Amino acid sequence: MRRETIKSFSHKNLPVVLMVLLFFSCAPAPMEEKPILKDAYADFFHIGTAVNHHQIAGHDEPCLNIVTKHFSSITAENVMKWEFLQPRMGEYDFKHADAYVEYGEQNGMFIIGHALVWHSQVPRGVFNDEQGNQVSREVLLERMRDHIYTVVGRYKGRVHGWDVVNEAINEDGTLRQSKWMEIIGEDYIQKAFEYTHEADPDAELYYNDYNLAVPAKRDGVIREISKILENGVPVHGIGMQGHIHLHFPDFQEFEDAIKAYADLGVNVMVTELDLNMLPFPTERIGADVALTFEQRQELNPYPNGMPDSLQNLQVERYIDLFEILLRYSDKVMRVTFWGVHDGLSWLNNWPIRGRTNYPLLFDRELQPKPVFFALIDLAEEKKANYK
Ligand code: GLA
Repeated sequence: MRRETIKSFSHKNLPVVLMVLLFFSCAPAPMEEKPILKDAYADFFHIGTAVNHHQIAGHDEPCLNIVTKHFSSITAENVMKWEFLQPRMGEYDFKHADAYVEYGEQNGMFIIGHALVWHSQVPRGVFNDEQGNQVSREVLLERMRDHIYTVVGRYKGRVHGWDVVNEAINEDGTLRQSKWMEIIGEDYIQKAFEYTHEADPDAELYYNDYNLAVPAKRDGVIREISKILENGVPVHGIGMQGHIHLHFPDFQEFEDAIKAYADLGVNVMVTELDLNMLPFPTERIGADVALTFEQRQELNPYPNGMPDSLQNLQVERYIDLFEILLRYSDKVMRVTFWGVHDGLSWLNNWPIRGRTNYPLLFDRELQPKPVFFALIDLAEEKKANYK
């Protein structure tokens, strides 16, 4: 045996042996196993993130690598909003939206189209004629239908779910007095769902809004969506925007809301999830994009980093939320974060410009934060308990 071994190392084999040795000495050290967020949650729901056009265009590769690795679903942060897709009536620009959808397809992701009908980021010209006069109900309905048919039709079978109507309900449960409402009347919401369903009968259709755990608002959404469903028009899910704070919303109310929406027979998604770590300058907490306040030093308390005490509070708050989401994972289909890392969050500039916020799972250096690992551990723990 020993002879055989020695024989096999005869000079004839030397080049091969050297090559093998060389290969192993140059091969990289085995990679340290890093947990992958979407894999940890694959048994429960999609984990998504909003992406921007810089990332999609390849101008921010490190960030895009995080998206590809950790997220199974994407939402277009801006490029599918009306003002980007149809900046002037009849002039569509699909450059960024096409790239967004292609990227999602290449990576086998669940692709969300956001948002078809919203009062914000829509050109004023949509509501006016060339003389600047407000258009009629018929004209606006026609414009809405044309936009939806063109956009949804273009991505038919490729975009899996659409935020059809965004933020149409007030805090007290009444309908927001937007231009859509003023000109078309309250059935504009149903019309938007009808048109989207006609344009792609297989796409999932969602109503998306903030503060959806607040009971009065929740009840308003339930009234509105029940009416649409009773009229035979499909709505497949409620997107509860997750713009949360350390002390708002009340998570018992959040849980009650998930149950109440699921009782309508629709799915629930947490969309636009981020945890605002900075003081909110007014009693009325929400995510109204129109809100704006002056910068004051005491409202930007952590310009150089988040203290450990706050880091711990962040972990606790996210864990409390995910405990609920995991309990309802038969009803919750997707949880989407609003941005990839702290440096990119809209919460650095809203409702006050130029603050330093820490709402997401990755820090400004693109490193996973303690909350990232805590969420991985939580999912692993739940899976272990099932087995
Ligand atoms: C709302 C919208 C989002 C985004 C955020 C702010 O929640 O639905 O598209 O504009 O505001 O980033």
